[in-house]
Amino acid sequence: MNIEKRIIELKKIINKANVEYYLQDNPSLTDQEYDRYVQELISLEDRYPQYKTSDSPTTKVGSKVLDKFDKVTHKIPMLSLGNVFNEEEIRAFDDRINFDNNLEYVCELKIDGLGVALTYENGILVKGATRGDGTVGEDITNNVRTIKSIPLILNKPIDIEVRGEIYMSKKSFNELNEKRAKTGEPLFQNPRNAAAGSVRNLDAKITESRNLDCFIYHLPNPLDYGIKTHYEALTFMKELGFNTNNEARLVKNIDGILKFINEWTQRRPSLAYEIDGIVIKVNDIATQNKLGYTVKVPRWATAYKFPAQEVITRLIDIIFTVGRTGKITPNAILEPVRVAGSTISRATLHNEDNVISKNIKINDMVVIRKAGDVIPEVVRPVIERRTGLEKDFVMISNCPICGSRLEKDMIKADYFCPNDNCDARSMESIIHFASRDAMNIEGLGENIIEDLYNAKLLKNISDIYHLENYKEDIIAMEGYGNKTFENLIASINKSKDNSLERLLFGLGIRQVGLKTAKILSRVYKNLDNLMIAPAHELEEIKDIGPIIALNIENYFKNENNLYLIDRLKEVNVNMEYINTNIRIDEDFANKTFVLTGTLNMITRDKASELIENLGGKVSNSVSNKTSVVIVGENPGSKYDKAKKLEIPIWDEEYFMDKIKDYNI
Ligand code: IVH
Repeated sequence: MNIEKRIIELKKIINKANVEYYLQDNPSLTDQEYDRYVQELISLEDRYPQYKTSDSPTTKVGSKVLDKFDKVTHKIPMLSLGNVFNEEEIRAFDDRINFDNNLEYVCELKIDGLGVALTYENGILVKGATRGDGTVGEDITNNVRTIKSIPLILNKPIDIEVRGEIYMSKKSFNELNEKRAKTGEPLFQNPRNAAAGSVRNLDAKITESRNLDCFIYHLPNPLDYGIKTHYEALTFMKELGFNTNNEARLVKNIDGILKFINEWTQRRPSLAYEIDGIVIKVNDIATQNKLGYTVKVPRWATAYKFPAQEVITRLIDIIFTVGRTGKITPNAILEPVRVAGSTISRATLHNEDNVISKNIKINDMVVIRKAGDVIPEVVRPVIERRTGLEKDFVMISNCPICGSRLEKDMIKADYFCPNDNCDARSMESIIHFASRDAMNIEGLGENIIEDLYNAKLLKNISDIYHLENYKEDIIAMEGYGNKTFENLIASINKSKDNSLERLLFGLGIRQVGLKTAKILSRVYKNLDNLMIAPAHELEEIKDIGPIIALNIENYFKNENNLYLIDRLKEVNVNMEYINTNIRIDEDFANKTFVLTGTLNMITRDKASELIENLGGKVSNSVSNKTSVVIVGENPGSKYDKAKKLEIPIWDEEYFMDKIKDYNI
């Protein structure tokens, strides 16, 4: 037989066998037969490389060991999900979005692994990427190719991006740890960590040896494929050859959601893989789009997290930590104990009132609760196990770090260290500034900041940008070589180009979270504009209340803060808002839009944001400078004025059609 023909035939046999084995759970070949075909294909491709194609199932076996992962910018951000923990919160989620009581939901298992985005061009897998910070992930294409339940070729030659979860089955996890125990390698804490460590391995051969799997559960652009519901999207993706989870269920209302949750709370132990909750998604895509997203999560979906696990251990001591705002937190030091997949030796006690009201004493046996990735907390003491040797908790009156007298917040029960120059506060501020959601300075994590701080090379935020002058001191420190230093300086310099919202969040203004920082950046465009904004003006902005407004105004009145900003300006830290979502579209660029009437398919906020992202402006009133008026239901006088001035009018459907490629 002709070699090329045989190679094509072998590829078909192996691809079919992969689908049968991994997707349909119904193999028609024995393992030996399968291995023989694979061996034959490998050896033919070795001898006749001219016939080896990029879609060959043998390319799943990556060979090159990388020295780092490339970065990938997600065309559509990879968002996380909000959490609900009980029936009341599930009902609140439903009440918030189900105005007419007619929404259908899809309930799915929440797979405990790590998110992945897969891109196919012409039906061929071209990219696999991790979630990263949601905007920029890592290119793990080589590793993804080794996962047998991820198809290299789809059943249709289409361009598509899908999202799912890479995970390790309980069986593979146990086998892996048994093997590692024998060879004396450190054990993985749980299947999720094992899956993450295996996928983010620079040697694809190791990934391949780890027996990973993948479920696909999200199609970011369903409308592009004429798909109108999430449930249809799941079927569509399955037909293309993806491994979708068979347990997804369409439910009609909240009762259906609760039934699904109860059922899976019972059945969870019988699954071959770990789940950490149930995901609830609005089925109708038009409604999803209308509900839209907050900065981090969709409004049309949420994750119900299974109840936290609780264990009992001894509380050995209580220590106090100082946060970046100066807030003092009592923390329980515990006899180490395993809970929810990890070992805990510390748990938060929140504040003095919490310790007193729960009657927690040093030496008590206490109940510890941990839910997934949430910080563990002390729930209550086990009074029956008291021996009389317990010691009362005493709140401190001075900062454990700088010794300043603590001040009490009258509204909340919190104590604060008032000293702006307190070492603990400075260090925590630097940690926050460099963190992922803030300036995202890779390589400048908690431990290195602590070391640099103790070495007096890093006393405040602006010192970060002068670390390059201390090369010799840094590489002389234990664990820091030339390469670590070079990488650190590169990521510090890169952070100078961040958009304003990262800086704003990083400055750590009280109650200014990521979402508020984004809103402020969009509205004020640069830090100078924001610095002179009075509280009453800030309050006018949707989502900004009087307390946040005052906190912002006060922050920019404080001399120390102004000094810090000047130092950052000196080293050219960017202070402008960079809208990376801008994709100039000629229908929108340099045009002024006015919205009137009720929009049904999209919120006004989202519509305005999209118009701005496409290069347009949104104004409140119609004049002869207005380019287009977008008209919803029951429009007001703006509509009449637009007609009078003969300004082009778009109805909602026409607008939605114009933005369909950008509506994320
Ligand atoms: S949907 C825009 N569905 O859970 C919606 N996520 O805690 C995207 N996850 O980041 C997510 N199982 O990595 C979705 N059936 C499922 C899931 C799921 C696991 C992960 C995913 C997400 C995280 C949020």
